[in-house]
Amino acid sequence: MPDSVVTDSHRMLLAGERVDSASGETFAVENPANRGIFAHVPRAGAEDVDRAVKAAVRAFESWREAPPRERGRMLLRIAESVEAKTEELARLIATETGNALRTQARAEAGLAADIFRYFGGLASELKGQTVPLGEQVLSYSRREPVGVVGAIIPWNAPVMLAALKIAPALCAGNTVVLKAAEDAPLGVLMLAGLCQEHLPPSVVNVLTGYGEDCGAALAAHPGVRKLSFTGSTEVGKLIMEQASRRVVPVSLELGGKSPSIVFPDANEDWAVEGVINSMRFTRQSQSCTAGSRLFLHAGIFDEFLDRLVDRTAKLRLGDPLDEATDIGTIINEKQFRKVCNYVEEGLERSDARLAMGGLPPDSGPLSEGYFARPTIFADASNDWRLAREEIFGPVLVAIRWENVEDAIRMANSSHYGLAAFVWSRDIGQALCAAHRVEAGWVQVNQGAGQVLGQSYGGVKESGIGREFSLEGMLDSFTQTKSVTVNLGLAPPA
Ligand code: NAI
Ligand code: MG
Repeated sequence: MPDSVVTDSHRMLLAGERVDSASGETFAVENPANRGIFAHVPRAGAEDVDRAVKAAVRAFESWREAPPRERGRMLLRIAESVEAKTEELARLIATETGNALRTQARAEAGLAADIFRYFGGLASELKGQTVPLGEQVLSYSRREPVGVVGAIIPWNAPVMLAALKIAPALCAGNTVVLKAAEDAPLGVLMLAGLCQEHLPPSVVNVLTGYGEDCGAALAAHPGVRKLSFTGSTEVGKLIMEQASRRVVPVSLELGGKSPSIVFPDANEDWAVEGVINSMRFTRQSQSCTAGSRLFLHAGIFDEFLDRLVDRTAKLRLGDPLDEATDIGTIINEKQFRKVCNYVEEGLERSDARLAMGGLPPDSGPLSEGYFARPTIFADASNDWRLAREEIFGPVLVAIRWENVEDAIRMANSSHYGLAAFVWSRDIGQALCAAHRVEAGWVQVNQGAGQVLGQSYGGVKESGIGREFSLEGMLDSFTQTKSVTVNLGLAPPA
């Protein structure tokens, strides 16, 4: 068998069938923990996109008419199938992304099942309103599906993000063409198969391909009536431009450089643990939500930082599939180089103090993969490139503040506005700060991940639109129609 043969479970899902790309081209999937190629997937282009969108357009006719509770029941069955395969799915995610099985991949697979269950249960909530216009008039609104949703996702939590596009879009009566990220297509293809067990053909179609050809063709396809994108701000802007040409609605969940503001009264272990969580060190900080700018009050700066370094140093970097591993690898060579460049820049600055970490190990087993060490630069300035740009790797900058006005001003001095974290026992003080920070989601005294039922999304260049919740589904995956009926016929002349 030639190396580049695509096995059936690694084929795309198009019109209910497992298919290769029209061109027959493929690309390799690398294991970032050892740089070995372990699978090939089809490389889809414009022709595949066209076939998938046309299939989804046809499927929309009947899918939109299925009673919502029936659609919901199918989503609930998908949830069961995903749950039954959690371990297999988790191992696949860990192998292709380098995210540690115990701390990340297993939770991600479990969350994917929960997402289908949550949206399956919401199918009866696609309610409209009535508008009181007088006794002789019945005016009401309907929440109608939009049509074919073109969804494009990144690699950092691929299966969770695929579930988050597919489940609400389907619940609301849309059909979907989803493009997986080139670095993490396998878990998404497996999820596609589990969906297909319970759905009519063509309701969900999943393509694998590069952004510039497959992603761009999907964004530009006239049959796509809604674009939902998660990824970089740079590509998000291109997607929005495409959407503007056809005036189709767009949801964008983009990058972040989220502030984490620690007040002096939070100089305690729980806050240190929380900051580690919020920084997502156990996902190599490849998270749009990561609290990567740490604003520490000057009075506790050194002590808090010492504790943070102590605790972070206990996290174990290693083989993503090993149960003892806390931190896995960076996704690919390009991102690894990018992270290394930022670390080098910090090391070269005479005004930066390295509190822990540094460049990756260059010998031993960890040098075989894209392993990056958790790295903290102390006494950073909010103006540094390290403090302004999304590194998407485990590099934290700690910045000193003395009065709260300065902390808020620095926190808001960013073109991003996705998440924020505030740490204080004085809840009034914490909430006043929370209200003033420009972000889509502020957490006080915790650094947790997104929860179903709570709308999620950013402000400023971190994106527009909300997903993750009933309201997010209604806003992002339905359109409102008003129907106005005159009940009193005109009296005879
Ligand atoms: P990206 O934004 O290029 O990729 C995300 C998705 O968009 C992938 O499926 C990709 O194939 C697709 N894509 C790329 N170019 C496209 C185009 N012209 N038209 C349509 N689709 C296109 O992100 P990438 O290159 O993987 O990572 C670069 C940086 O983006 C990271 O360093 C990080 O800063 C940020 N990022 C943010 C994420 C988030 O969750 N907000 C997730 C991934 C990356
Ligand atoms: Mg890119």
